[in-house]
Amino acid sequence: MASPTLGVCYYPEQWPEALWAEDARRMAELGITRVRIGEFAWSRIEPSPGTLSLGWLDRAIDTLAAAGLQVVLGTPTATPPKWLVDRMPDMLPVDGDGRQRRFGSRRHYCFSHLGYREECARIVTVLAERYGHHPAVFAWQIDNEYGCHDTTLSYSTAARDGFRRWLAARYASIDALNRTWQTVFWSKEYRSFDEIDLPYLTVTEAHPAHRLDFQRFASDQVVAFNQVQADILRRLAPGRDLIHNFMGRVFDFDQFEVADALDIASWDSYPLGFLEDRVNADDGWRRRFARVGDPDFQAFHHDLYRAAGRGRWWVMEQQPGPVNWAPHNPVPRDGMIRLWTWEAFAHGAETVSYFRWRQMPAGQEQMHAGLRRPDDRPSPAMAEVAQTVREIANLGNLTTDRTEVAADVALVFDHTSSWAWSIQSQGAEFDYFRLLFDAYRGVRRRGLSVEMVSSRSPGFDGHRLVLIPGLFAWNDNLRKAIAGFDGTVLIGPRSGSKTRDFAIPDQLPPDLGALLEARIGQVESLAVGCEVAVDGGGAFQFWREYLETVPPAETCLAAADGVAAPIRQGGLFYLAGWPDPVLLDRVLSMVSEAAGVALRAPLPDGLCLRRAGDLLFAFNYGGEPVSLDGLGLRGPYLLGGAELGPSDVAAIAVPASPAEPA
Ligand code: GAL
Repeated sequence: MASPTLGVCYYPEQWPEALWAEDARRMAELGITRVRIGEFAWSRIEPSPGTLSLGWLDRAIDTLAAAGLQVVLGTPTATPPKWLVDRMPDMLPVDGDGRQRRFGSRRHYCFSHLGYREECARIVTVLAERYGHHPAVFAWQIDNEYGCHDTTLSYSTAARDGFRRWLAARYASIDALNRTWQTVFWSKEYRSFDEIDLPYLTVTEAHPAHRLDFQRFASDQVVAFNQVQADILRRLAPGRDLIHNFMGRVFDFDQFEVADALDIASWDSYPLGFLEDRVNADDGWRRRFARVGDPDFQAFHHDLYRAAGRGRWWVMEQQPGPVNWAPHNPVPRDGMIRLWTWEAFAHGAETVSYFRWRQMPAGQEQMHAGLRRPDDRPSPAMAEVAQTVREIANLGNLTTDRTEVAADVALVFDHTSSWAWSIQSQGAEFDYFRLLFDAYRGVRRRGLSVEMVSSRSPGFDGHRLVLIPGLFAWNDNLRKAIAGFDGTVLIGPRSGSKTRDFAIPDQLPPDLGALLEARIGQVESLAVGCEVAVDGGGAFQFWREYLETVPPAETCLAAADGVAAPIRQGGLFYLAGWPDPVLLDRVLSMVSEAAGVALRAPLPDGLCLRRAGDLLFAFNYGGEPVSLDGLGLRGPYLLGGAELGPSDVAAIAVPASPAEPA
């Protein structure tokens, strides 16, 4: 495999053609090798129904190719043109208040609208027939950021009709649906699938099984929508990589399933915007990391999409300066563009691509920085990109193969759980991402790398410790994987607390039969300030469970009121609540010891380590220099040195095995 590469997002349709060749030359001169274009250009490709205008796109691709650049061509289906919307206005999505969303920005389509899907198939066929074999078009991005701007769920007529068909296929008879959902509750029994409406605008909450099925249906629509384009591109653009750009903390469709149709998963990383509007943190934390981003948020998504892409993943859009869409949009601290780029490579990214080449002086994103300013002079990010290019060349032996991680710790991720706990949080703070992110942060604070694993994974080979927090319902795969695993598994809170049909299991959670002889008799959610202390230090926050344990399960720690907290049966541990950082660290020490995984002393806030084959990377998101020597890390340093300044990066050669710690 090749060394990691850099890319950039470029919009030839937004600039005079006279600039293209010079732009391409400068990109290549900078060391960029890949350019994504086209994903919002439908109105230029087809200005009126059936009238194609592809000459400009031919020339744009050829200009980039002439400079030696490889093109990722976006399908333009996130921005259907006005004439198309006017022809089929019922393709517009409808929000949860029943209001039709309108033309004028982007993502103005409903995934369920079959007529729109056909239009997408038509335009993608046109593009694939023309560029499918073009030597410079080496990859395709399908659509852009599915689900962005809250567009996964739509309450349109197309969605309602599609949902009824989907339910009929899933349940075959209305009696089966009534039984499964238990619609007798509040007299909701249906006589036919045609009576079923979408679960919105109800007087109070709609039935959770109804809502979960609607979310499953909506997710399936995204998968099917993507599949239509993937099938066309496979046929007409053979041998080209297919990619989609997923998002940060947007999990409302099953990204693993979408990625199954692709070669590469990518995501769009905006660390400063995310810190402001997607990370649960107090004001002190936000202020401290305002110019660098949360130290674990990027890494979490790198690992998630690495799993979705089955090892092949990119950052398709990397923040290069202030963005325009968060509540506040600071300038990144010097060095962060380089740090974010190296961090992605340390997690195995094949390509990091900056959004965007030049800041656009008009339109919705005129306040969004690019690598070049609107006056075409370089923005501060350019120098950091140039430095990164030089470093990649020096570290020429860093190949994506070397970034293979035999992470001892695996974290199971499950989209259905994310949907289920937003349907029935049972406590204001109970959020699936937040629960997993706490666990992820806790593990990394002890210097370990984490591998994310899908809940559909057939097993946990290669790992010693597997964490399964907040898993809504077991599936057969997962039960078998747990039973067949000879390492250590930490599950809970709330794992296995429902059946797949959103009911409480007959034998009560955690519903693992003889594998874990315990039942949860009661649960409670806890307001901030009502934490439940655990003997010896730490507490449960937000959520707590009352475990009834039967031998051979044994209590490892108890809450101050005597109720078992973590319990253990063989290699299986159950954690009966949401641990605060102190309790989480105690529990991690306990399960790591059982798993034979050595932890480092807690790292200073802002210092992140990532194992990548025979390299150990260190990243300093903090504001003070860190002595890596002082942490027991020893060179040789292939990048940086033992004193790691703020925003600095180091790479240390380490023995390939044992995996961790170095
Ligand atoms: C992404 C999107 C880009 C651009 C960018 C701005 O969400 O894919 O098209 O809008 O955000 O930060």
